[in-house]
Amino acid sequence: MVKLKSKTRRKILVTSALPYANGPIHCGHLVEYIQTDIFVRFLRLAGEDVIFICADDTHGAPIEIKAKELGITPEKLIEDVYKEHTRDFSNFLVSFDEYYTTHSPENKYYSDLIFERLNKKGYIYMKEMEVTYCEYDKRTLPDRYVKGTCPKCGAPDQYGDVCERCGATYKTTDLINPYCVICRNTPIRKQAEHYFFRLSSFSERLRKWLDKNKQLQPEIKNFVYSWIKNGLEDWCISRDGPYFGFKIPGEEDKYYYVWLDAPIGYIAATEHYCKKRGLKTEDYWVDRKSRIIHFIGKDIIYFHFLFWPAMLMGSGFNLPFNIPVHGFLTVNGEKMSKSRGTFFTAADFHSKYRPEYLRFYYAKTLARNMSDIDLNFSNFQDSINNELVANLANFCYRVLSFANNNLDSRITHVSPEKKLEKEILKKVKNIEEHYYNLEIGEALKETLAISSLGNKYLQDNQPWNLIKADREKAAGVIGFAADIVKILAIISKPILPAFCAELEKQLNLKELSWKDASFDIKEHALGQAKIVFSKIEIVEAAAAPEKDKAAVFPLNIKVARIIAVEDHPNADKLIVLQIDLGTEKRQIVAGIKQFYSKEELLGKKIVVLTNLKPAMLRGKESNGMLLAGDDGKEIGVVAPKLSEPGDQVYMEGFTKVNKGQITYEDFTKVQMHTKDGGIYYNGKAMKTDKELLSAEKVGDGARIK
Ligand code: 2FM
Ligand code: ZN
Repeated sequence: MVKLKSKTRRKILVTSALPYANGPIHCGHLVEYIQTDIFVRFLRLAGEDVIFICADDTHGAPIEIKAKELGITPEKLIEDVYKEHTRDFSNFLVSFDEYYTTHSPENKYYSDLIFERLNKKGYIYMKEMEVTYCEYDKRTLPDRYVKGTCPKCGAPDQYGDVCERCGATYKTTDLINPYCVICRNTPIRKQAEHYFFRLSSFSERLRKWLDKNKQLQPEIKNFVYSWIKNGLEDWCISRDGPYFGFKIPGEEDKYYYVWLDAPIGYIAATEHYCKKRGLKTEDYWVDRKSRIIHFIGKDIIYFHFLFWPAMLMGSGFNLPFNIPVHGFLTVNGEKMSKSRGTFFTAADFHSKYRPEYLRFYYAKTLARNMSDIDLNFSNFQDSINNELVANLANFCYRVLSFANNNLDSRITHVSPEKKLEKEILKKVKNIEEHYYNLEIGEALKETLAISSLGNKYLQDNQPWNLIKADREKAAGVIGFAADIVKILAIISKPILPAFCAELEKQLNLKELSWKDASFDIKEHALGQAKIVFSKIEIVEAAAAPEKDKAAVFPLNIKVARIIAVEDHPNADKLIVLQIDLGTEKRQIVAGIKQFYSKEELLGKKIVVLTNLKPAMLRGKESNGMLLAGDDGKEIGVVAPKLSEPGDQVYMEGFTKVNKGQITYEDFTKVQMHTKDGGIYYNGKAMKTDKELLSAEKVGDGARIK
């Protein structure tokens, strides 16, 4: 492999993929951020001119839909997620030089600039296409928001882009019996005009770029070659509102597709970094001498090996120098799964284990290939206990504490051990190569081999016995071992930065860099030894259950008792109810007059949506809404038995309830149905702390209104 290392010091820009701002960072994400961080930390240590750039990927339909569900603006949602993401990254010691957002003025600027340049060169055109549209939600439905039967194999309930059973890919309009994931209604097909990027014109240039680039992993290149050979399709780069993103200049309700502005976010975040420091973005993105390296997962190869380089080619920016691709994370050999309790968020993991344990474990398994990585908790425990703690950390502690206790914390001289010295320095050289080549697992293996040599050296020389007979000799042995500790403190730093910072303190040496990795300690006063890592006694291979997570249910529903009932003066079907909500009394209007007598209602316990915007219904104010099941024939109220007025009603798995006001339209988005004698929302049952709730009179499948 051609190395990055060169005589002329080049500017190197390294990125990790931008995580979506619609969910938490999980252990799967961390594979990539940790891998990238190890690489960048190594480059810094080796004296390279490198910056590490990333950002939240904040645009797209899912973010807009999620914000609506939560009753907040998308801006607020991405602001909250930004705080969580940056907290998680800093907990796991991921050392970005810049962590920005794609919802930024810089990104708007570069998105418009690139769009404009591509457009001028004729790489963008408009075309009519068929889209799937929900008339009820009044939106074009993205792939993931339409489900139906797979047109190839007939599997029910498949997403609009790919069948999880047979792997077929298709268009949303190909699905049989499609339904809208938001409201379950049947969507319609509609013609719409959209912007397209002429990816097909870049086939030759992309092929040449692949031919010339010697860094890219050959197995991936082969994939990409075959895609090019089979013919590249032009790419739809606009979306209709409602959408959270950048409006396309001159358009009323069309936005850039999130995948257009997301990678441009790499440039925009660089600009933000450079502006603060008086540097030039062009030095990274235009000057041919720089090196751009994008770390990604194997699910986004198409975007980074085809769309993105084509966009860069078409708009005059530098192409990636390398795009290292890693595999997926499995937990105990299987796909991470919420129901099996193996969906670990970064926060879950952090609450149980030291972040450097995960860095160490991932480092062991990271290679320059796309193999999946398994977080196997029994291997994890073994590896931490036997390799990190018993080998590496223990060696350092043995040497330094021995010097503290027996040698007055002083290194006076170093025993000459030429053979061992040579062996270790050769390993250091190999480790340097491994890091440059992204063979992180190999680098760590060699590092552990050095600490094993160190442990063996102590075992062979027995300084604890030697000290009694020949203090001088014992001091020389510890001097040599201290040099090994110093070397370990340098070469492990990319993987274990906090541990190594602690070792530097204990060694009383400051800010060691790669060039210091040699045997050169002379007379030196050491600091105080300290145990940094301890063994994992019990592994808890289960993530926090869903209920512990701060999921917010959009509806604030409470138990109430009807304390007065009267006919509505202006409507036959409506009835006016006075209700007691425990801490307050309210008036609501309900459409249940044909289904319940006044006598039945008086004194009855019901549940009421309390955070609905008050409305006038035929001249009577309704401050809240009674919830009932409607199966098309009957209407039956949700009637609690054990709960009392004022008790909170919630859905299993949600720990928080949205206290903000919502509109009727928002309410209709939360689809609740009766099933098996209960009431469900996305498979979660409606309950209070005292009971599961159900609706009277109606059978399965009734909609809660
Ligand atoms: O797949 C993802 O999670 C995307 N948010 C990655 C974007 S990377 C870049 F192109 F912006
Ligand atoms: Zn819909």
